[in-house]
Amino acid sequence: MKVTVVGAGNVGATCAQRIAECSIADVYLVDVVEGLAAGKALDLAEAAPVVDHGSRIEGGTGYAPAEGSDVVVITAGIARKPGMSRDDLLATNGKIATQVVENVMKYAPDAILLMVANPLDVTTYIAQQVSGHPRERVFGMAGVLDTARFRAFIAMELGCAPGDVTAMVLGGHGDSMVPLPRHSTVSGIPITELIPADRIEAIVDRTRKGGAEIVGLLKTGSAFYAPSAAVTQMVASILRDEKRILPTCVQLTGEYGLDDVFVGVPAKLGSSGVEEVIELDLNDEEMAALHSSADAVRETVAAWKGMNA
Ligand code: NAI
Ligand code: 2OP
Repeated sequence: MKVTVVGAGNVGATCAQRIAECSIADVYLVDVVEGLAAGKALDLAEAAPVVDHGSRIEGGTGYAPAEGSDVVVITAGIARKPGMSRDDLLATNGKIATQVVENVMKYAPDAILLMVANPLDVTTYIAQQVSGHPRERVFGMAGVLDTARFRAFIAMELGCAPGDVTAMVLGGHGDSMVPLPRHSTVSGIPITELIPADRIEAIVDRTRKGGAEIVGLLKTGSAFYAPSAAVTQMVASILRDEKRILPTCVQLTGEYGLDDVFVGVPAKLGSSGVEEVIELDLNDEEMAALHSSADAVRETVAAWKGMNA
């Protein structure tokens, strides 16, 4: 198995490290900055004898070595600084996503594309437009991260093991995301029976602002440990055909009453990519929040189209 990771910055390099150290696949790391991907790949390869992984890791600036990749993870793009929204990245990252996907299609036209660069729902749309892939083979990572934050905050609140918490966050990867307390449990016990309503509301709010909280602390960039863990879980589910049901940014074709828009919903990930979109039974309030989030994504897609008219 082979994974190409585009962008050797914080998220990309950490994805390369996690994927290699799990021995899921060989990794090719690519970045526009001369020496950056080659240097980080060599550094990671030199760690192999100590951490005892069996993956080959190489890096460079060209796309030819991406040939034969099963999955291409695209993290190339600028990250937020304090005060910026993810949508502020649109003009720059939209162009980068376009160039990167054009390059990937020359050498790895059959690879599954997993988008990461922000604004995530729109870069995933751009990747689909440029690649022409069906929705099964072009989708994005955001919901696993947002859900991980929600799960971590629930575990912190209860002082319980994070792994015992299951949760779900739908919608776009922005302030309009839709954490679902009704679909969140600790070892099968609904959190609504364990945590008072006002505390759940505070946790939901912290989840929505989770990315900005990290940006505010780091000041020079955004989160990468949890994002790279989320990417690796999705890549593993695809390459090992695990068929995990994970929140995934995918093009909807009528599910949830939404058509032709990319938003986060639960999807089954296996060797074909998105093998099924799961429709949760949402109440009126949850459905309205999901539609409002989809509207926010549509607005940003319209802004992108306006920039390129
Ligand atoms: P970073 O600045 O550390 O790394 C970005 C890398 O992309 C840099 O090394 C840069 O040289 C490279 N790059 C820029 N243009 C390129 C091109 N045309 N071809 C190849 N490489 C190129 O940023 P970081 O922290 O790794 O974040 C990357 C992106 O991922 C950002 O847009 C960030 O907002 C997004 N992100 C999305 C998450 C999600 O949940 N979807 C989570 C975390 C980050
Ligand atoms: C995050 O939520 C930057 O989108 C990224 O941390």
